[in-house]
Amino acid sequence: MDRREAMLRELNLYPAWVRREPVPDAVSLSHADSVSAMPEAISVKEEGGTELPLFEQPAPTVQKSAEDSLREFQMKIAGGPLADTDWPELKEKVMGCELCGLRAGCTQTVFGSGNAAADWLFIGEAPGVDEDATGEPFVGHAGHLLDNMLLAIRLKRSEVYIANVIKCRPPEDRHPHVGEIDACLPYLRRQIDLIRPKIIVALGKTAASALLETDATIASLRGQLHEYKGIPVVVTFHPAYLLRSPMEKAKAWQDLCLAVQTMR
Ligand code: URA
Repeated sequence: MDRREAMLRELNLYPAWVRREPVPDAVSLSHADSVSAMPEAISVKEEGGTELPLFEQPAPTVQKSAEDSLREFQMKIAGGPLADTDWPELKEKVMGCELCGLRAGCTQTVFGSGNAAADWLFIGEAPGVDEDATGEPFVGHAGHLLDNMLLAIRLKRSEVYIANVIKCRPPEDRHPHVGEIDACLPYLRRQIDLIRPKIIVALGKTAASALLETDATIASLRGQLHEYKGIPVVVTFHPAYLLRSPMEKAKAWQDLCLAVQTMR
């Protein structure tokens, strides 16, 4: 059994639907049509080899890919178990998560820190070396700049919540891969549901893309208000980028002002 199969079994997502025989023109048929037109054509085998009654079968025309299975799992944990998860349980789930390969290579998970009932939520990308060592988000150089950005709008760390899209440090501090983001995002979503912030500041492309489900550039996203589940979202540059490109700090300041105005 390979790792993927083991993971899918663990999640009750295995075996995937299988088609025994080709289905003629199945895509163009409605589910009702497909049920009456080809009762023998599609069958679903359970693990022990028992076939499910036809009415319990969906009308799949393609076999599930690993991505589909992962997405389905996310829907399950986001809409199922995670939907009822309280803060301590969520923390525990994050600590025990091995959904992607990152946990194996990091020291500890970095859940987030600050006031779990804050009006302000700041979201970064992923822990780096300092965060991996301490278990706290934004404690390295980028964290110092973030502290100063907060101070500039008269906020202290203890008054806001700071989290990352990814809870485990990627190796060599590379950007997280899509599969890693997909696996980790339900935890952040649940954090947002529990915190119920009045405003979210997305720090950098990973946070903005994950939250707003867009591939747009930071340049095109900043300077305007976006929305996540009815919560206003301001997009700005990641502090690590600002350390490399200090000329952009003026724009980040404008973004923070937009956030402050939105909160008035
Ligand atoms: N960069 C991030 O995106 N998050 C951290 O916690 C630290 C650096």
